[in-house]
Order: sequence, then C-alpha cells, then structure tokens
Amino acid sequence: MQIVIHIDKMDYKELIDKKNLPRHIAIIMDGNGRWAKKQGGIRIFGHQNGVKSVNDVVEASAELGIQFLTLYAFSTENWNRPKLEVEALMGLLVSTISNELKNLTKNNIRLLVIGNIAQLPKNVRNKLLKTIEVTSINSGLTLVLALSYSSRWEINEAVVNIAKDIKNNTLQVEDINETVFKKYLSTSEIPDPELLIRTSGEYRISNFLLYQLAYTELYFTEILWPDFSKNDFYKAINDYQSRERRFGMTSEQITK
Ligand code: IPE
Ligand code: IPE
Ligand code: MG
Repeated sequence: MQIVIHIDKMDYKELIDKKNLPRHIAIIMDGNGRWAKKQGGIRIFGHQNGVKSVNDVVEASAELGIQFLTLYAFSTENWNRPKLEVEALMGLLVSTISNELKNLTKNNIRLLVIGNIAQLPKNVRNKLLKTIEVTSINSGLTLVLALSYSSRWEINEAVVNIAKDIKNNTLQVEDINETVFKKYLSTSEIPDPELLIRTSGEYRISNFLLYQLAYTELYFTEILWPDFSKNDFYKAINDYQSRERRFGMTSEQITK
C-alpha cells in the first residue's frame, strides 16, 4: 500500500498583498479533542497543544499589521462539557495569560474580551481584567478573546439594555437603527470581521458573531487547531484576497 502525504511547501506569506489585508480576522479554533485522540491522549492534551497555534496566529497578525484578531476560546455551550475539561480550560487560560503578558506588551498588543465574563471563575476574571487594563495603552493589534460567549446571549443582552434605556428615557424607539443597535453589542468598538477561519473540517458557525458575520468571507480548513501553523494562516489570507466582495452589487459595479 502506498501512503501519500501531501505537504504544502508554498510560502504563503510572500504572496500576501499588504495593501489588501483584512482589518479584522475571527477564528473558530476547533479540533483540539480530535487531535489529542489521534495522539492517544486525553482531550486536555489537545487544548494544551492548541496554545502554540494561538501564539502563532497572534504573532503572525501583529507582524502583518492586522488590526483586530478575535479568537473563539470558550462558548456559552462549552459550559456543558465535563467539569474536569472546563476546569482544565479555565486553568489553561490563566496560565497562558500570565505567560503571555510580557509578549503582549513587547508586541504592542491590546487585549479585549467579549462574552459573559461574570460566569468565569474569579481568578480567571481578575487575571483578564488586569491584563486588559495593563495592555489598554498598546496601539498595535487588538486581540479579542471570546470567552463564555455566544451570539444569542450577546443579542439578548443588547435587547435587554435597549429596553432599559427606553424605560429610563435615554433612548427613543424611533431612534433605533443599525448604527444604534451595534452600540449595544459587545463588539461596539470593533469593526465586523472581513475573514472568518474555522479549523477541523466543521462547516458551521456554532453561535459565533452571528450579527457581525453578515458579509464576512468564510474559510474552512480540515486542519485540526493544534496543527494550524503561521503558513496555514497566511494561506487563508491569500484565499480571502482572491475573492470578490460584492455586498449585493454586481461584479461590474465592483470592478468599475
Ligand atoms: C476546540 O476544540 C476548543 C474548544 C471548543 C474549547 P474542541 O475541544 O472542540 O475539539 P473537538 O472538536 O472535540 O475535536
Ligand atoms: C466552537 O467549537 C467553540 C469554540 C471553538 C470555542 P465547538 O467544538 O464547541 O463547536 P460545536 O459543538 O462542534 O458546534
Ligand atoms: Mg469542537
């Protein structure tokens, strides 16, 4: 039997058009559990190995001059996983943030979090808030962690807060439009992503940025998250740059 291993040797960084970079890239980092299983390890082993890929895409984004990178690290639905796995993920978060603080500062990276952080364990929340504060002066890449996040939660929050503002008379019903509504989302300070990457061969959005992804280019790859390299990231950006974004118009209107 002949085994054919396909290795992509192309240097995708070279091919990137620096003048047409996405301003905001969002990633659904998926496949840690399957990666661990393939290695004969437990799921947590996969999460631990996913940290390297996180560091790689953060570094690559900072180097390229991407302005926003949003990483889906833990969804509202992930709370339903086995207690031991949730605890391990929370522990990994604290240790990664502690280890990476120096690098964030060195690379001029600002940290933000979207999601229901009130649900997070106190030590995780405190570590995050402290890091957000310390890095708030940085002016390079903004790294957004989606933690205990889901779009339906976010949209529900927005509706509740709009209703409250109408009740206390700081907002009038007739003033609600898309611009105003966006201000009530957790991404109010963040532009919509131009590119969404999902690893591990799953073709779904899993409750991530449903409102913000309205016109985002979607990129799916079979690669499992711990195997996702800088070059794979550059390849996704190349793919994005080959697309024609029409926003409902015709091709002729765009190329005019
Ligand atoms: C993504 O990998 C990490 C999180 C959702 C926290 P998974 O843990 O979902 O890995 P698979 O999908 O089971 O392989
Ligand atoms: C999505 O991955 C959430 C994160 C990557 C944090 P999941 O593995 O939880 O998604 P589903 O359950 O396969 O849709
Ligand atoms: Mg998964």
